[in-house]
Formats: sequence, C-alpha cells, structure tokens
Amino acid sequence: MNNEGTLTVVGTGILTPAHLSQESIASIKHADVVHVLVPDPLGLSTIKQLNQNIKNLADLYFDSESERNGKNRLEAYDKMVAVILEDVRSHQKVCAIFYGHPGVFVYPSHVSIKKAKQEGFDAQMLPAISAEDCLFADLAVDPGDLGCQAYEASQLIFYQHTPNIHAALILWQIGVVGDETLTQLKPSKHGLAMLRERLLNWYPADHEVTLYEASTLPIMPPRIEQVTIDQLVNAEVKTITTLYVPPLETPRLDVEFCKKWSVDMDMLTN
Ligand SMILES: C[S@@+](CC[C@H](N)C(=O)[O-])C[C@H]1O[C@@H](n2cnc3c(N)ncnc32)[C@H](O)[C@@H]1O
Repeated sequence: MNNEGTLTVVGTGILTPAHLSQESIASIKHADVVHVLVPDPLGLSTIKQLNQNIKNLADLYFDSESERNGKNRLEAYDKMVAVILEDVRSHQKVCAIFYGHPGVFVYPSHVSIKKAKQEGFDAQMLPAISAEDCLFADLAVDPGDLGCQAYEASQLIFYQHTPNIHAALILWQIGVVGDETLTQLKPSKHGLAMLRERLLNWYPADHEVTLYEASTLPIMPPRIEQVTIDQLVNAEVKTITTLYVPPLETPRLDVEFCKKWSVDMDMLTN
C-alpha cells in the first residue's frame, strides 16, 4: 500500500475484454482497490481476473422503486465519488473503472479526479474506446469529412442550441431523452416527440437517421437501423442507443473570403 493515495480512472471500452488497453490492464492489476461500474457480467468477471479487490459501484446505483441511493442518478453518482475518495484518503492506490471511455458522459469520474487533485492527491484519467469511436468504425463516419458535433439528447431539446446541419450530429442518451428528473431508464412520456419536434426545426421529416448500438458481446452484431426523423416518435430506443444524424448538405464555399486570401479554390472543391 502507498503512503500517499492515488487515483487512476480507466475505461473498459464497449466490448470487454477486447477493448481494454494495456495501460488500463496494468493500472487495474497494480491497484490496492478497484471500484467498478460496468453494465455487463463479462466486463465484471474480466476485471475480477485482473484484481480480486473489487468494490462494485453498481451497488450504489439509484433505485427508482425505493429511492435507494438518493433521489436520482446524480445523488447516486455523488455517493460513488464519496466511496472512491474515501479509499484515496486512506492512502490506497485506487483504480476506478467505468465502461466505454471513462471521461465521456461519466459524471463521477471527472468529479472524483477533480476532488482528489484539490485535496493534493495524484489523480489521472486514461483514455479508452467510447461508443462514439465504435460508431465511427461501424457507420463509416469520418468526423474529419464535414466536421462532427455531439450533444446529450435532453441538452439539445431543453436548451437553445443550434446544430450545424452541414456537419454530422451525434446524440447521446436518446434512451432517456426528456427525463429531466434523472430517475428513469427510458425516455420521458414526450421525450421522443420533443426530440422529433426539435430536429424538425433544422432537418426535413424524411431525413434518414441511424439508431446505433455498438456490439457489447463478441458474437453480437451492432444495431444499425435507419429511420426518418418523422418515425423517431415510435422508434425502439434502449439505454445504450445513440442517434446518428448525417449532414443534410455540404457546406458552401466562402468565395469572398478565399478570394481575399488568394486561396486556390480548385484545391477545395471536389
Ligand atoms: C452514460 S453514457 C456512457 C458513455 C460511455 N462512457 C462511452 O464512452 O461510450 C451512456 C450513453 O452512451 C451511449 N452508449 C453506451 N453504450 C453504447 C453502445 N453499446 N452503443 C451505442 N451507444 C452506446 C448511449 O448514447 C448511452 O445513452
């Protein structure tokens, strides 16, 4: 055990153990204690083979029936931060594991690192494979082609965002869209209708979008289902579904600007 506590936050990737990086494996193996929040039993058993001293953060997950672990998911996440920090403060080398990339849509990972650093402990996050990385591979989307933007789905509908229709759009967490209470594991009653209405501000009703679920088991293919924006209201969405909205049209060249700076426009158009 260390004199000083440390915190390393790692991710399993989406497909465990295939996506686990060598540096993440080393961190898990060498930790005094490992805090884990992964959804699938295969992920958990993989981690148990690397380190026996496991604390399962899923025990602290919010339970809507009993309001166990707080009033909503946010309160449950704060409890997770508290138990992680407790072990760091007691001078242990702590590894905290989340699925996918540990810094992508994972509140307790960022907060734990921030607090540990504020208290003077060494804390770092290692990168990992996120659902978005899988999407780029499975849907053959290159974010460098026309640019790419990503939003949390409820963020997009409740705030005054304006997505760029000339670039790709990735919407996370459509499986809980519209649930401002953070207590449900499904869209709110009007969640998908609100999403449709918002998207219709910028895209035509027949614009085809993709319901995407990366494979989480070696033999399982990804879900890649095309629907129109109009059909979104009746779409089957799960907690792991991500929505991909392709660009509506390519951006127009800023001819004036290019002329002003003597840019060879023949090199830019294809
Ligand atoms: C709390 S976030 C966790 C993201 C995760 N840390 C990552 O790096 O991908 C959950 C959201 O990630 C996306 N997601 C998680 N698993 C996925 C999968 N297998 N396929 C597609 N999207 C997924 C969905 O948008 C889901 O609502």
